Amino acid sequence: MKKLHTLLIILMVFGFLGVNAQVSSSAKSRAENSKMDNFVNTLMKKMTLAEKIGQLNLVTPGGAVTGAVVSKDVDTKIRNGEVGGLFGITGPDKIRKTQEIAVNNFRLHIPLIFGLDVIHGHKTIFPIPLGLSSSWDTTLIKKTARIAANEATADGLSWVFSPMVDIARDPRWGRIAEGAGEDPFLGSQIAKVMIEGYQENNLSKDNTVMACVKHYALYGAAEAGREYNTVDMSKVRMYNEYLPPYKAAVDAGAGSVMTSFNDINGVPATANKWLVTDLLRKQWGFKGFVVTDYTAIPELINHGMGDDMKVTELALNAGVDMDMVGEEYLRHAAQLVKEGKVSEKTIDDACRRILEAKYKLGLFEDPYRYCNDERAKTELMSDANLKAAREVAERCFVLLKNNDQVLPLKKSGTIALIGPLADNKRNMLGTWSVSGDPQKSVTIMQGIKNVVGNSVNILYAKGANISDDTEFIKHVNVFGEEISVDKRSPEEMINEAVETADKADVVVAVLGEAADMTGESSSMSNISLQESQENLLKALVKTGKPVVLVLMNGRPMTLTWENEHVPAILDTWFGGTEAGNAVADVLFGNYNPSGKITASFPRNVGQIPIYYNQFNTGRPFHPGDSPKFKSDYLDVANTPLYPFGYGLSYTTFKYSDISLSNNTLSSNGKITASVNVTNTGTRSGKETVQMYIRDMVGSITRPIKELKGFKQITLEPGETQKVSFTISVNDLKFYNSDLKYVYETGDFKVFIGTNSQDVKEADFKLK
Ligand code: NOJ
Repeated sequence: MKKLHTLLIILMVFGFLGVNAQVSSSAKSRAENSKMDNFVNTLMKKMTLAEKIGQLNLVTPGGAVTGAVVSKDVDTKIRNGEVGGLFGITGPDKIRKTQEIAVNNFRLHIPLIFGLDVIHGHKTIFPIPLGLSSSWDTTLIKKTARIAANEATADGLSWVFSPMVDIARDPRWGRIAEGAGEDPFLGSQIAKVMIEGYQENNLSKDNTVMACVKHYALYGAAEAGREYNTVDMSKVRMYNEYLPPYKAAVDAGAGSVMTSFNDINGVPATANKWLVTDLLRKQWGFKGFVVTDYTAIPELINHGMGDDMKVTELALNAGVDMDMVGEEYLRHAAQLVKEGKVSEKTIDDACRRILEAKYKLGLFEDPYRYCNDERAKTELMSDANLKAAREVAERCFVLLKNNDQVLPLKKSGTIALIGPLADNKRNMLGTWSVSGDPQKSVTIMQGIKNVVGNSVNILYAKGANISDDTEFIKHVNVFGEEISVDKRSPEEMINEAVETADKADVVVAVLGEAADMTGESSSMSNISLQESQENLLKALVKTGKPVVLVLMNGRPMTLTWENEHVPAILDTWFGGTEAGNAVADVLFGNYNPSGKITASFPRNVGQIPIYYNQFNTGRPFHPGDSPKFKSDYLDVANTPLYPFGYGLSYTTFKYSDISLSNNTLSSNGKITASVNVTNTGTRSGKETVQMYIRDMVGSITRPIKELKGFKQITLEPGETQKVSFTISVNDLKFYNSDLKYVYETGDFKVFIGTNSQDVKEADFKLK
């Protein structure tokens, strides 16, 4: 009794201290906010309307060009106070010089904010985001954002156009490479940690950077996977399936949001007041600023929204604060205010939000705070960052197939290393690595040499061009020669590859996509290997030698033939600066692969869009059913080739049945679902245990499975670990037809397994 008493006192004291700490921290933030308000108010009182409008203008002088036009007369505009921010340049020196123009010449000395596309690392490039998500490791992903923030700020930047959190279920869309795949739950967790990694909840530090969540919203649902295409979607689908990652990023404190190029149910995102003001600001409480995507305001004219004046009015009145490269605000906003079509308050609000961002970043205190030559020297591509890039890359690769334990390879004998991507620096970094230097990347050939030295005899042949289609090559090669065409004929190259394979014990074929076959403006209607590479692979398989297909790709590809005929397939995405070393580590078993795909791999393009959290329909097809009058295809299975969450290991894992702590859950209670997972193979291995839930009866149709939890464990051979998930009503909530976030009592199923298809299941009731 006495002990209990003491415990209670201790808890009370700690509780009190906790509350007190909260009170004092919120008091502190109130004080900081009022200091900021005073500062911004005083400054805005001095500003003319034109100067306020100037803050809404974001320019790019070129450099890393990411759109069809670049801004003109940038220096003059900065001097005149007609620029609020700039993107496309890096380096403490360049940024200092540009900042000096603003600070020394503009009458009000307002510093610029400097942004850039820092997407999967800045100079040290990590795997593409789709690859990063395949690690299912939010701590690791946060670390990549942290390192990127460190490098970006050491290189003069204060703002990164990341994370990209668009849910994508269509691998034809090239930008699927830039996000975390198809699932809103995983996507939200990743969005949150990216924001935390960039901003660390404290933008006043020298090594934190303001994030920009993009592309708001629903860009990943572009019809037919065609870039920039229309989106027409029910609100229920939006709220339940597409919006959660944006909201998670906003809840995590994202400093800014970028609108998307697409329209949404008839209103382009950049002119969409419901999206930007009602949902983002009013419902979600977003306090930062909203920037358009590249020239998205003038593009409203093509959308059929009106002329320059009209589209400027629409964007401003929608609540869009900053105009990226369009310069429509600069040209027309003052006139619109004069005519009463846009209120002065709208301009004030937009200007205030941008000044607040600069204030939070500490730019008023020290406009040059990110211009530190010493930091640039020591922090960019430091040994520690490169080491992290290698470790991260290993964690992202997905073993799609491994018959007869072809992998891992022995560290002896002769390997035929074949393929246009086997010794190719140019393509290792993948799309959106604007500051990465491909010349500093480690190729797979180099990586293998680094890892096995002379113990393995490596024979090399290019075997094929990435593509032989001249028109296609021109289209891909806009930023340089990513697809280089050999002078030899395809036959000559294949013959050389076959001869090389004949001399080896095993063939490692490194095939796939050039870096810019995914990313912006890289939609594809055919997502298989290019014909040149398919022919090569077929010839290699015909030699009878064991073939390992190492894929480099930015999207799920159709690999039906490959899955049938190639014994081992390792998906390495675009693994970044250290990709070659990481691939070699995995090929030779220094790291046991543990990645799991986060976007379904279709069997053919006709199955697209394909995603695991689909609905049941009134006539669901189950294998073994008579197929007539069922929701299926005559010519292909309903299932993907590789389902969401799938990925093999060099070891094997066995799952026990699920045990539930209770099969009834009350609305204020919790139950636990547990499985025992055993490593039944001979190597230590990491497994991502996934938990899905199905709401059996709802006021609206509910998906057949929804990811609601995952845990990573590492097991030694023979080891068993119990993995438990706690379930409460929070895991059962969804947006109903009135867009209310509710739970509904009734029957549920819980599934736990190694991927979205191979699961154990149990039933429970919510009372
Ligand atoms: C266009 C892209 O859609 C966006 O993702 C990027 O951040 C901007 N251009 C700026 O480069």
